[in-house]
Amino acid sequence: MSFTIKSGAEIDAMRVACRLASEVLDYLEPLIQPGITTQEIDRLAHDYMVNVQGTVSATLNYQPPGHVPYPASLCTSVNEVVCHGVPNEVPLKSGDIVNIDVTVIKDGWYGDNSRMYLIGKPSIAAARLCQVTFEAMWKGIVKVKPGARLGDIGHAIQTFAESAGFSVVREYCGHGIGQKFHEDPQILHYGRPGTGLALVPGMIFTIEPMINLGKRDIKEGRKGGVPYDGWTIVTKDRSLSAQWEHTVLVTDTGYEVLTLSAGSPAQPAFVAAAATPA
Ligand code: MF3
Ligand code: CO
Ligand code: CO
Repeated sequence: MSFTIKSGAEIDAMRVACRLASEVLDYLEPLIQPGITTQEIDRLAHDYMVNVQGTVSATLNYQPPGHVPYPASLCTSVNEVVCHGVPNEVPLKSGDIVNIDVTVIKDGWYGDNSRMYLIGKPSIAAARLCQVTFEAMWKGIVKVKPGARLGDIGHAIQTFAESAGFSVVREYCGHGIGQKFHEDPQILHYGRPGTGLALVPGMIFTIEPMINLGKRDIKEGRKGGVPYDGWTIVTKDRSLSAQWEHTVLVTDTGYEVLTLSAGSPAQPAFVAAAATPA
C-alpha cells in the first residue's frame, strides 16, 4: 500500500483547508432548523464556499469509477440514510437526525469533515446514537500516534459502539486525504488491536464511523417511482444511522485534529485524560 507523508508546508496547507471545511459546518449550524430543506442547506453552503471562503466543493460533480457525478456541494444523510444522502426538497422536521458532510478544496488541498445535527426534539434513542457515534470517533482519534496500528483505531471504535448496543457499518471507511479526496490507506472502523499498517508522522487521514441503531447491513436507498440517484445508502432494516468525521494528522507524539474551528463541539472528557503529558 502506498500512502503519502506530508511535510511542513503541505501540513500548513491542510490545516487551512480543514479549518475551512469545519467553518462551513459552523456557518450552517444556526440554519439547520425544522422546515429547511436539505437542498436549501446545499445552496447556502455552496454560496458560502464560493463567495466567502474562496473554496471549491470536492463533492460537486465528484465521479469515482462506476458512479454518476455527485450532484451537490455536500452530503445530507437524514435518519436511516447511512451516507452520501443527496440533498432534496423534503423539509427537515422535529425528531430528524441529519449528518452534514462537507469536503472543500483550497489551493488544491482537501479538508473533509461531518457532524450530526438534531432537529427539534429527537427521541432519547436518536440522541444517544448521535452522542455514542461522536464519542466513538474520538475513541479512534485518541489511538492515533506513531507506531500505533490501524487495527487499534478500528478496534477502539467497534468495541465502544458495540458495547453501547449499536452496530458498525463495514462497507465504508475513512481514508487518506491530501491533494486527492480519497487516498490510501483505508481506515476501517472495526478491527483487531496490533494489526494493520503502523502509523508514521506526517500521515493525514479521516476517521468517520457510521454507526447504526439496528443491524449493520446497508443497501441502496431507492424511492418508489423514481430511478435510483446512484448515491444514497440506507440501513437495510431502516433503523437510524449516525456519522461524525474529522481529518487527523499523525504528529511526532500523537495526533492533531485538523478539522477544528470556533464552532466545533467540545471533545469528550476522556480525550484530555488520554493525552500524553507534554
Ligand atoms: N465526504 C465523503 C467522505 O467522507 C465522501 C462523499 S463523496 C460524495 O469521504 F460524492 F458522495 F459526495
Ligand atoms: Co471522508
Ligand atoms: Co466526508
